[in-house]
Amino acid sequence: MKQGILSVIGNTPIVELTRILTPSHFRLFAKLEAFNPGGSMKDRPALNILRRGLETGVITGDTVIIESSSGNMGIGLAQACAYFGLKFICVVDSKTTIQNIRLLQAYGAEVDIVSHPDPLTGEYLQARLDRVRELVSITKDGFWPNQYSNFDNPAAHHKTMDEIVRSLDGRVDYVFCATSTCGTLRGCSEYIRDRSLATRLIAVDAVGSVIFSTQKARRLVPGHGSAVTPPLFNRDLADDFVLVDDIDCIAGCRRLAQTEAILAGGSSGAVITGIERLKEKIPYGATCVAILADRGERYLDTIFSDAWVAEHFGDVFDHWKSKTEDPECATVAS
Ligand SMILES: Cc1ncc(COP(=O)(O)O)c(C=O)c1O
Repeated sequence: MKQGILSVIGNTPIVELTRILTPSHFRLFAKLEAFNPGGSMKDRPALNILRRGLETGVITGDTVIIESSSGNMGIGLAQACAYFGLKFICVVDSKTTIQNIRLLQAYGAEVDIVSHPDPLTGEYLQARLDRVRELVSITKDGFWPNQYSNFDNPAAHHKTMDEIVRSLDGRVDYVFCATSTCGTLRGCSEYIRDRSLATRLIAVDAVGSVIFSTQKARRLVPGHGSAVTPPLFNRDLADDFVLVDDIDCIAGCRRLAQTEAILAGGSSGAVITGIERLKEKIPYGATCVAILADRGERYLDTIFSDAWVAEHFGDVFDHWKSKTEDPECATVAS
């Protein structure tokens, strides 16, 4: 019998997708990270960082965990802190959804809201990180997990990749994963390189993010992409990369819901669109895996809201419907 909620982090299911890319000359599997108890793959690094800290004594019962996150990492940490009985302050910004703030609070986290972006860069991320440093400096026994540069973040994803390889009996030709801190990318890459596997790792970044591109631009879909280049990033971690803009990421999410009945978050839509874009490069008979990072319920008022999409992107629905007439494309309807 498994003891405690944290014991069911990881070992998420993997399923074959047979409807979304038809016709297809390769097999596509989805690693469903939404099945982690906190709803995303960030449960893995959240637990690993805290567990390491507790094992090494860096974290004790009196430690206050302080981290910047407007979404999944915050929820993963809030869950693990609640279980370990640790106080957690999550620094969010005024763009954070009410639902995520409520989730954090439901787990007992204290939410500290940054209401102005950094005056120099115009970025909320920078302002949040500055606030974390300030809180750590004034808090007795404060600990900053620092997901952007903590190597216990990628280390948690060695297991993600191990689960993928084992569930497909070692036959994995391509893995597509979304990037932000680059924890997933680095962890999967280390696993592949350490074992000299032939698996090709493809990073999916957002248009406007400064991980694989330098062209910073406004992005509305949270999760993947970053406004600062993460210290965990290294161009060689990925064999190739693809940049997906917000609207194509939303289209990917909707296709996943309508064709495969998988309600997943923004980065999952980006991963699906990324695979479609690169499909001509994928050899006949290959086995591909899409890591789908989180649940779609957190995006009902944005990605899955027609009103929100129309407000921010105009009337894109006709464009999507015209794609349904193209036999190469799976269906997308508003
Ligand atoms: C939904 C979603 N997708 C992708 C990512 C990127 O993962 P990583 O930080 O491991 O690069 C995140 C990170 O928070 C995320 O929340």
